[in-house]
Amino acid sequence: MTTTLAHHYYHQPEVFGYECEHIFKRHWWLVTTEASFAENGDYQTFKLMQWPLLVVRDQQGELRGFYNLCRHRAGPLVNDACGRRRDFVCRYHGWRYACSGELLKTPGFDKDEIANPENMGLLPIRVACWNGLVFVCLDEAAPDLSDWLGDIVDIAAAYDNTASMNYDGDVEKTAQSNWKTYGDNSCEGYHVGMVHQALGSSMLRESVTIDNYDNGQFVGFDVSYSDGSDASRAGRGFWIYKFPGLLLHFAEYAFNAESVFPLDANSIRLQRWFWSHSEKAEQHGIDIASIRPNSEKVIDEDIMICERVQTNLASGAYPGGLLSAAQEPGTIYFQQLVRAALSDFTEAE
Ligand code: FES
Ligand SMILES: [Fe+2]
Repeated sequence: MTTTLAHHYYHQPEVFGYECEHIFKRHWWLVTTEASFAENGDYQTFKLMQWPLLVVRDQQGELRGFYNLCRHRAGPLVNDACGRRRDFVCRYHGWRYACSGELLKTPGFDKDEIANPENMGLLPIRVACWNGLVFVCLDEAAPDLSDWLGDIVDIAAAYDNTASMNYDGDVEKTAQSNWKTYGDNSCEGYHVGMVHQALGSSMLRESVTIDNYDNGQFVGFDVSYSDGSDASRAGRGFWIYKFPGLLLHFAEYAFNAESVFPLDANSIRLQRWFWSHSEKAEQHGIDIASIRPNSEKVIDEDIMICERVQTNLASGAYPGGLLSAAQEPGTIYFQQLVRAALSDFTEAE
């Protein structure tokens, strides 16, 4: 019998602080779509946990990532969420940087005072793309994106690439839930009948297979649907929860990807991006307009239950519980990954 992670891991700020450095900082995070950077100079800013970030397509066409902070006295390079620039001028005292990060000008400031101006460029972060998705990583020592994705790359090859689909936009939601409460929930289908009644009725639940994949550290659900009335739930599908906070939903006529951004010990921001294959769906008489509402309904149902669980975990009254190897193998695996990542913290307690 497997016991659950103790409740304090779900709400203590000390645990969250440790996770920022030892988990979040060491992984890749899906932050946006490749199509957002159509022209040179197109940029977007992000806040990943406490880190202010900037991704830009430089004047040579290369996608680059930086901390959104100036080397002078940490001023912001960009205040807005997105736009197009030839270069970046710090909003504090006006230092100017190329989109490739190089320091260009320091107005009113004698450059001779700077020992190595070539070393005073913007602080780089890693950026990589896969399947039209843009990921960033703050750790130089982390594996390359394709190694981090592991077996996901081969699984995705059986479905359409986003380049051949229509992009249907994104949605953002916040939830008063620890990221692990949401992860525990997303790694099992045990709750589907109680929490997602519409989804449950359109799935062949007895035929779902759940596997844990060490090559990529994810839980995969091979799913079959019972009817073709919904484009996101026609034929077969494959759901993925990848540690620590990436969800991918492959279907015959649709694809969506979701990032679970931890905000603090008790809250997360969810962002989900949608694609669909309208021509293919229409050929099969499927209503493409139902994809997003159905998908958002499932997110809302998950948020509702996770927020209630979070309140209960944070109350301190929960003495710990049990996980079923038959019903919750993915959650057991997710909690193993959490335990391994927190082992030094646990020993120091
Ligand atoms: S902080 Fe950027 S120019 Fe001073
Ligand atoms: Fe769910």
